Amino acid sequence: MSKKIIKRSWAEPFKIKMVEPIKMTNKVYREKCAKDAGYNTFLLKSADVYIDLLTDSGTNAMSDYQWAGMMLGDEAYAGSRNFYYLWDNVKKYYGMPYFVPTHQGRAAEHMISQILISPDNVVPGNMYFTTTREHIEIAGGRFVDVIIDEAHDPQNTHPFKGNINLNKLEDTIKKVGAKNIPYVFMAGPVNMAGGQPFSMSNLKAVRSLLNKYKIKLWLDATRATENAYFIKMREKGYENKTIATILKEICSYFDGLWVSAKKDLMVNIGGFLATRDKRVFEEARNMVVVYEGLHTYGGLAGRDMEAMARGIEEMVEFDNIKARIGQVEYCGKQLEKYNIPLVYPFGGHAIFLDAKKFLPHLSQDVFPAQTLASEIYIDSGVRGMERGVVSAGRDPKTGKHRYPKLELVRLTFPRRVYTQAHIDVTVESVAQVFENRKKIKGLKMVYEPKQLRFFQARFKKL
Ligand code: F0G
Repeated sequence: MSKKIIKRSWAEPFKIKMVEPIKMTNKVYREKCAKDAGYNTFLLKSADVYIDLLTDSGTNAMSDYQWAGMMLGDEAYAGSRNFYYLWDNVKKYYGMPYFVPTHQGRAAEHMISQILISPDNVVPGNMYFTTTREHIEIAGGRFVDVIIDEAHDPQNTHPFKGNINLNKLEDTIKKVGAKNIPYVFMAGPVNMAGGQPFSMSNLKAVRSLLNKYKIKLWLDATRATENAYFIKMREKGYENKTIATILKEICSYFDGLWVSAKKDLMVNIGGFLATRDKRVFEEARNMVVVYEGLHTYGGLAGRDMEAMARGIEEMVEFDNIKARIGQVEYCGKQLEKYNIPLVYPFGGHAIFLDAKKFLPHLSQDVFPAQTLASEIYIDSGVRGMERGVVSAGRDPKTGKHRYPKLELVRLTFPRRVYTQAHIDVTVESVAQVFENRKKIKGLKMVYEPKQLRFFQARFKKL
């Protein structure tokens, strides 16, 4: 008798206690919505979106444990109980002694840039992120990309495409001089590269190179638990370590970090800066009162800090992070069945469609990824986001478009929000657009804001 092998599936480690209705609209209506929004998915009304994969930022479903904590908000102006609990958890899980809360990640980026960067400084990092680079430039600095070349190639399956190329980094140091580099930053996983992690061994090598030149190393820890998960799954020696242990080891190599709590921490708002550098801490604590609020709330309500503190405890649970990344992977595998061009390996927070390959007849001057994101919305009400030439913006010196090698559409998964059926609907819509791709024409930009143009730019169909 032959034994039948039964496939065993995994499922999310939670059940749904509260639901939010969403509605499918018709295509004629969505055509109008897209046009009214200037073919920019950021300008759509959420009510007109069916499945919202714009971002995983602040769009997460909190747990009953987090919601229960919201009722324990201590809304004192100064010294709220929730602040101290959050600080304790930052020490415990990130291993940083000093901590300043902010209303979201970019406020922490603003502070660190203003504190450490002087005009004409250079800040090397593993690929740019939109708000991170903007704040570096506002402070008078210049970002230099020192990520490995593989990160710019969507097809390359390197397991750690978020790694820094040590030669590029050392060449930059030699060229500009260590004294002109206030810090190097690493983000993990790298958002703009497709959610690609760095390895612990690369991080250690970066740290020892920077020790030689006495340069600081800062971490964008916004999605650091996803990076820890990939290290556990892919790097030798980490198989049996917990996510919490790996996260703490990652943080141990950095002088400080900033976090957009709207991701890993599974809350709707929040951020912070944490460091072992007392001077930076003191400056940040002075600065936060000017821009955000007192240093014991940083623009947040007490209840928000309680939800963050509890979110930290949940984010390191293996089953949570496995289900989250498992969902992204499921989406990627379904899209592969239709031969959709994707970025490999699949990332931590999103699946990225390779718009250059999807729409090879469109040049970057007619914004293929912007076009593709709006076509998917029109097809099904699924909202993704452009991560290509529009997001890259203009070079502040030359005023010309920066043409990134990666011209992508990001389908980003909010944590604990959508089911497998939502993913199937999304996949089928992308497949439908792919089927009709030859008929798709590009876009013309008709309104362009000066900073972070992708948020508010408007387009017309060619
Ligand atoms: N760093 C990274 C890696 C991010 O992904 C983000 C935000 C920030 C910093 C800024 O944090 O939004 O709280 O001010 N990323 C969102 C996204 C917007 O959709 O990827 P924030």
